[in-house]
Parts: sequence; C-alpha cells; structure tokens
Amino acid sequence: MRLSRFFLPVLKETPAEAQIVSHRLMLRAGMIRQEAAGIYAWLPLGLRVLKKIEAIVREEMNRAGAVEILMPTLQLADLWRESGRYDDYGAEMLRIKDRHERDLLYGPTNEEMVTEIFRSSVRSYKDLPKNLYHIQWKFRDEQRPRFGVMRGREFLMKDGYSFDIDEASARRSYSRMFVAYLNLYARMGLKVAPMRADTGPIGGDLSHEFIILAETGESQVFCDKTLVEMGAPGTDLDWDGDLADLVAQRTSLYAATEEMHDQARFEAEVAAENRLCARGIEVGHIFYFGDKYSRPMKAMVAGPDGTERPAQMGSYGVGVSRLVGAIIEASHDEAGIIWPDTVAPFDVGVINMRPGDAAVDAACQEAYKALTAKGLDPLLDDTAERAGAKFATMDLIGLPWQMVIGPKGVAEGVVELKRRATGERWTLPLPQALAQISG
Ligand SMILES: Nc1ncnc2c1ncn2[C@@H]1O[C@H](COP(=O)(O)OP(=O)(O)O)[C@@H](O)[C@H]1O
Ligand SMILES: [Mg+2]
Repeated sequence: MRLSRFFLPVLKETPAEAQIVSHRLMLRAGMIRQEAAGIYAWLPLGLRVLKKIEAIVREEMNRAGAVEILMPTLQLADLWRESGRYDDYGAEMLRIKDRHERDLLYGPTNEEMVTEIFRSSVRSYKDLPKNLYHIQWKFRDEQRPRFGVMRGREFLMKDGYSFDIDEASARRSYSRMFVAYLNLYARMGLKVAPMRADTGPIGGDLSHEFIILAETGESQVFCDKTLVEMGAPGTDLDWDGDLADLVAQRTSLYAATEEMHDQARFEAEVAAENRLCARGIEVGHIFYFGDKYSRPMKAMVAGPDGTERPAQMGSYGVGVSRLVGAIIEASHDEAGIIWPDTVAPFDVGVINMRPGDAAVDAACQEAYKALTAKGLDPLLDDTAERAGAKFATMDLIGLPWQMVIGPKGVAEGVVELKRRATGERWTLPLPQALAQISG
C-alpha cells in the first residue's frame, strides 16, 4: 500500500476527550472515528488490526473444534420472551419496532438464538458435543460508554456456545475453550490471567474472566504472579482429549477480581513476593451455565438410555474490538503504538526520504517488491511530508519495522532498518535487511 493512496487521517493534537492512552492513540493514528457516543467507524488502519485479531480468534476456535456460523444482529423479542430475559435485561437492550409493529432488538448476546438453532435439528447425544460460534457486532446501551472501543455501545464480540449431553462432558468443552483462550491471547502478544468470576444466580464454580494487566484497567485484580508468567500451553495438544490438567495447573493458583477477592485467602495461599495487585482489562469471559436456557426453551436431547434431557450449555466470549485497545494499553511508548507482529496493520513501513528522486524511488520500488515477495505487507510512505513528520507518523502507527531509504544510502547500496519495539537500528544492504525482518 502506498501512503499517498491510503486513508490515514492522523491527528497532530492530542484529542481532549480521550482519557486513556489507547483511546488517544487510536484517534491520533486515524484508526477510528466516533460517530455517536460509544459507536465508532473503523478507518483502514484500525480495521486491519481488527481483522487480524478476528483471524487469530477464528483460527484458535476452529482448532479447538468450534464451528463458525453467523447469526443476525437483529433478533425477535419473542425468542427472548421464551427465556424470560426480554423483561429482565433492562435498559442496556436496544429495543426496536419494525413496520408491522413487531418487537425486535439489537442483540447484546446470542444464547437464545443459538439455542433455537440447536433445538431445531439436534435430538440425540450422538450429535454431541457441539460448539457453535460467531463473530458479530453487539449492541449494549451502556450507561457510560467510555475509553473508546474499550467500553463501546456497539462492539465486536466472538461468542461461542457449547452443547453437551451431561455435566462431565460440558466440563471438557469448557476446558477446551479455556485452553484455546490462553493460546489466542498469547498469539496476540498478551499476558493474560484467567480469574474466577462470579457466576451470579446460576451458581457453580465454572466461570472465568480472562484479564490482561494494565494500569488503566477498569477493575482491580489480585493474583499469584506465577500465573501471569506461566504462558500458554501451545497448540500441539490432543484437542479431543481431556484438557482438565492444563486448566487445573492454572486454576489452582490464586487469581480473583475485586468481587471474588478474599484477602485472607490471598495472603495464606500466595507468598508475599508473588502477590500481584493490579488493574486489569477483561478481554474474555467464559461460563458454564447448564440448562439455564435449554430448559425453558426446550432444547432437549436423548441420552443413550433414550430419555430426553435439556442440553448442558456454556458460553464463551472474546471482546474482539476491545482487544484493539487492550493491546495498545499493553504495548506503547511516548511516541505511539508498538504493535506485536501478529496483529500489526502492516508489517513494515518503508519511508521514501526523497520522493521524485529517480534513484530513491526505484530503490523504494525494489524494496517494496522484495518485501511483498517474502509475503510481507509493506506501507510505503511516498508522500512529500518533511522527514521529521514521516518518522513521527511511523512511530505513532507502530508498525513493527521501519525501512528508511534516502539518497545517501542508495548511493552506498544500503537501507536503514529500525525495530519499532526496541529502537534498534541497522544500516545494511536490502537482502540482509529482508533476512533480518524475516528473522
Ligand atoms: N461495552 C463493551 N465494549 C467493548 N467490549 C465489551 C463490552 N462489553 C463486553 N465486552 C467484551 O466482550 C466480552 C464478553 O462480554 P460479557 O462478559 O458478556 O460482558 P460483561 O463483562 O460486560 O458482562 C467481555 O469480556 C469484553 O471483553
Ligand atoms: Mg464479562
């Protein structure tokens, strides 16, 4: 992509309305534009990151045996009357009427609809387990939308739903998602800690929030430092087997959000030097809730003995659009964003220091082609901006690598390469620069 053709409306000034760094940087880097409170248009740079995150989530869901569907954003209120949630959900639900005066709503989540889809065809334990997910926009009329995409009203979520014949099998489904979540956040360069969450009126011990630590997090969290350092199990696993041990390794360590925190237990279970009290951002949330929806909505399956019972269900959410902000909270410096390689909007920013100079233009073309041939996605700054402004923009938008090409280097047969994350620089011929980037 050539910057002269791209749409990158960077802001020179720090927007006054943005209270946290990710919101400021997303506005300054021209990633999003607010269209109404908590409702954003995704501009090209932001959209590229959103799509990368979405792709990682999709890959890890598929690997763990979940199957993608796409449910609509608008739902019939009648479906929610079956579960009783139409009246319970409250002011966060956006209610709409169509021309026939039928009650609709913009989905804040999809338990009811997926249960309806499931019950329309699945009858027997032989068809289980099943895990259906989609990546779709949600609307929740939050009282206080804030922090940009971190707490929006319209936001993109991956929500998945598991169906099993009994609790033991449902726990295996839960474990698979638990492990898949650890892997997917790790692939985005995040350190995440699963923390026991309140299961509310449903009860039980199976609900975890996946939290990344950041000063600007909305909630206070407490955990054993070793949990954060432990890292992800990796993808080379028997996904059809029981992953309970991997889950137990982590859930045996203390980790709790403010609502679940017990200071006495914390002090008893965690050595003083390992006690971590920090702010956290919730980037995912998983639940096992049994027959909460399947019973009232009559999603019944026959077991091996022929008797029918309600399917045992769980739900699994990832805040896809929130992750764009969360990753920035976790990875930035004074100059701007520092994208982890896996979610970067482009892999390399090539800076042409003298557009219009035939030799420099040709060297930039050569570099661009060579990068593309390596499967990398470059952004070529071919604009007439001052050098200082070009460097500032590249640092702001945070591409993992910068390649600076100017007349002096061209005469000497070298380019200047910079690693955004560390600030390291190398002056070297193009082939070596390419080798350095491909690592
Ligand atoms: N208003 C929002 N804006 C952006 N992302 C959100 C919002 N609400 C929830 N999410 C993301 O979706 C995930 C699943 O949502 P869920 O746990 O159902 O929501 P909540 O924790 O608000 O009840 C959350 O972990 C979070 O990452
Ligand atoms: Mg939650």
